[in-house]
Amino acid sequence: MRFTHSNPVELLFGQGVLTDQAGRIRTLGSRALIVTGRTSARASGILNELTESLNNHAVQWEIFDGVEENPGFDVVARGALYAGRFNADIIIGAGGGSPMDAAKAIAVLAGNPGLAVEELLFPQKRTHLPVVCIPSTAGTGSEVTPYAILTLEGLQTKSSLKCSIWPALSYVDTRYLHSMPPGVRCATCLDGLLHLMESALSSRASFLSDAYAEKGLELVAPLLPVLRQNRLDEQQWESLAASSVLGGMSIAQTGTTLPHGAGYLLTVRHGLEHGRATALTAPVWLQIHPDQQKVGRLLAILGMAAVEDFRETVRELAGPVRLELPSELLKSYAAELMNNGQKLANHPGPVTAGDLEAMYREATREDP
Ligand SMILES: [Fe+2]
Repeated sequence: MRFTHSNPVELLFGQGVLTDQAGRIRTLGSRALIVTGRTSARASGILNELTESLNNHAVQWEIFDGVEENPGFDVVARGALYAGRFNADIIIGAGGGSPMDAAKAIAVLAGNPGLAVEELLFPQKRTHLPVVCIPSTAGTGSEVTPYAILTLEGLQTKSSLKCSIWPALSYVDTRYLHSMPPGVRCATCLDGLLHLMESALSSRASFLSDAYAEKGLELVAPLLPVLRQNRLDEQQWESLAASSVLGGMSIAQTGTTLPHGAGYLLTVRHGLEHGRATALTAPVWLQIHPDQQKVGRLLAILGMAAVEDFRETVRELAGPVRLELPSELLKSYAAELMNNGQKLANHPGPVTAGDLEAMYREATREDP
């Protein structure tokens, strides 16, 4: 076995870490642009605690709250202009995966004046302003990965930026998760669950990434049957947050694989949330995966005897899906994905267009 491992993120985890240790932000700079969406950072309580903490440490701040779900190039370019005008030297992504990913892209553009946003898709090492992440959802793991995913509006797909943008610092506080509506909680948890599964079943998995992934699955397993309920206790919130971090840490080493590759088209073209789209394609992927022994081991950690149990759990958490897409369209999506070697690269075996089509059929079928 041969692998490299690197994760330079300073992760601060626990209740009150932001207010207690906001001084760490001051070591990165003195002018922070807070990148967020319209609601989640406010509703979660992050924004209040963050701005107060920045004031206490003499960090000037401005808010850019124009980030919608599945951000594209336009919003990132606007954010970078905003950062430039404010002369920001730190970019803080606060909220769900979308603001954190947008913050990373803005940090590269703001750190390289004159760089066109499209150039973020050219593989090249880039410098960037220091990034701080503060999640209000559990699942994306963006706070511990170098990835930023943007929607390419023209091509109607999503792409990961081709440069590594590790956050310098991330604060994970379970109190910020409490304001997630149950549907968001389930969808983002499904995303995190798939990060753990895809990492472990990636051709790039190592014993170290497996250690993260398997621990994450162990933590999330008891939550899956109770996640739709309105109340979680503090230990359950902590397990949810920790499993999400472990999912991010594991895919930061291995990347994702077929379910993420397939799910993006359903998100961008049909509005199915990322976590639901990804997880709903997964049962077929588990059935066609060449390492059935490992699939069985991972399912056993989740307390499941077979893929059918996984299918049931995912459908329960994802809720009803009514896409009703014609089979010709699903065939064309499968063909499109077959031509995208990058999205298939981490699958440790051959894949056919028929396999991918079956994943799409599964994800878009109505419940019986
Ligand atoms: Fe994801």
